[in-house]
Parts: sequence; structure tokens; C-alpha cells
Amino acid sequence: MTPPSPELLEQTTFSKSLLPAVYIVGAGPGDPDLLTVKAQRIIQQADVVVYANSLVPKEMLSLCHNGAELIPTATKTLEDIVPMMIDRVRSHLSVVRLHSGDPCLYGAVHEQIQALAEAEIPFEIIPGISAFQLAAAKLQVELTVPELVQTIILTRISGRTQVPEAEELASLAAHKASLCLYLSARHVDQAQQKLLAHYEPDTPVAIGFRLGWPDEQMWVVPLSEMAKATEDHELIRTTLYLISPALKSTHSQARSRLYHPEHRHLFRPGKH
Ligand SMILES: C[S@@+](CC[C@H](N)C(=O)[O-])C[C@H]1O[C@@H](n2cnc3c(N)ncnc32)[C@H](O)[C@@H]1O
Repeated sequence: MTPPSPELLEQTTFSKSLLPAVYIVGAGPGDPDLLTVKAQRIIQQADVVVYANSLVPKEMLSLCHNGAELIPTATKTLEDIVPMMIDRVRSHLSVVRLHSGDPCLYGAVHEQIQALAEAEIPFEIIPGISAFQLAAAKLQVELTVPELVQTIILTRISGRTQVPEAEELASLAAHKASLCLYLSARHVDQAQQKLLAHYEPDTPVAIGFRLGWPDEQMWVVPLSEMAKATEDHELIRTTLYLISPALKSTHSQARSRLYHPEHRHLFRPGKH
């Protein structure tokens, strides 16, 4: 795999008008206000925007300039999408590949990166806010609470894409960490059963549906009711589960050392 040269990336990052390259941009969970400033600038300047129409809201596309070519991908395969992007870059156009959330998870980005690198097409990745981050913000919680939980697991249950055996949900549940479950609403019965092997039945589960969209919904239920709530609300897609002991710790006295008066560090050395 040949990554783009540092010189090209430097120019790509700082130029006012974009260079011919593919910009893989994280669109965030839905709300256009949650785009990064850099993502917004690149979308505004791009000649071509290739976007997943089911997961990227129309308002985001209103950022594009009038002459931009907009290409939805819902009906396309990777074999259609990649050559299209390569052709346009070779015609000296800048291409945004807009993905929901952050491009580093569950976005089929890996295979696009490989194909672009093989074709020696320069690319840059611009991060976005993932669904689990918006879920935590909406719940007004920190997912790492001292003495309670210090680890976040991002995972999914096996569906059409198989999860490697070593990452089996029941074995991840054994850590009792803050666990963010993507792409699992269709198999929620199975997920609940595996989680109950380790988490207490009354562990709070937040169920977030289309977070950041005008019709977003969020419920917090005990783990023992996760599947029933999913079925009652007929949730099949764009649903994120957040299972965490942190969700019941809002009144706990636990605190981090970071802002503790007894904790000294470079910027707060204390009196001598
Ligand atoms: C194809 S994956 C994309 C994940 C994305 N890259 C991210 O970082 O959020 C789609 C899954 O992510 C979760 N998801 C994405 N956006 C969401 C949203 N706005 N609300 C709730 N869940 C969301 C759901 O589990 C959904 O099935």
C-alpha cells in the first residue's frame, strides 16, 4: 500500500482550493452542526461529493457549491464507486467520500483505502463524531468513571459480517466495561442473552435511534428489557446500544485525579 507523500498531504491539508485527491470525510451521526470545521470546509470546496444517502442528511449537501457533482451510493457497489472516484481524481477533480459517523469504524473504508492506494490516488481521512460519542453526550455521562469503569469497547454482534471468535460478545461482556454495540438491532435477543452472561440484569442500557436526526429517540432500560424495548419500538436499523455501569453512577462520589487539589502536574505544580 503506497500512502500519499508527506508533501502532498501537507499541500492537501492547507491549500484553500483542494488538490485532486479523495477526502474520506466523517459526517458525524446526523446533525450537520456536528461536522468538524475541516470537514465543512472540504465539503464546501469539493468538485464531487460521493455520499451514502441513507446515512447522510440532505442539509449537509447544501454546503456543497452549485457546480459540485453529487453522487448517492445507496444503489452502488464498491466496484462502481471506486473507479468513479479514481476517474474523477485523474481528471484533476477533488472528491469527497462522505461516510456517517467516524470513518474508522464500520464504514467499508478499509477496502476503499486499499483500492485508492493501489491506484496511487492520494487520499486523506478527516475524522467525524461517532454515534457512541453523541449517545454519551445526550445522556450527559462520562463513560470512564474512576473506580467504576475505565474501558470503552466498541463492537457489534455477528450478522452478515462475522465477528472473529476471539471477539465473541459474551467474552467481551466479561470485562463489564462501557460497551457500545453497533449494527445489532436485528439480533438483539441474542445480544441480550450474551450480555447477561456477565452484566447484572439491572445494568442500564441506553438505546439510541437515529441520534442527531430530527426524529431521534433515546430510551434507558434495564439490560433484561433491552430486546423487548427494541421490539416494542420496532427498531431495526440506525440503533446504537450503550451498556454501561456509568449510566447509574450520576450520584456517585468517584472523581478523577486530574483536577484533584492533591494532584500536582506540569501546569499545576502547587506552592513551594
Ligand atoms: C454502518 S455503521 C456506521 C457507523 C459510523 N461509522 C459511526 O462512527 O457511527 C451504522 C451503525 O452505526 C450506528 N449508528 C450510526 N449513526 C447512528 C445514529 N445517528 N444513531 C444511532 N446509531 C447510529 C448504528 O448501530 C448503525 O447500525
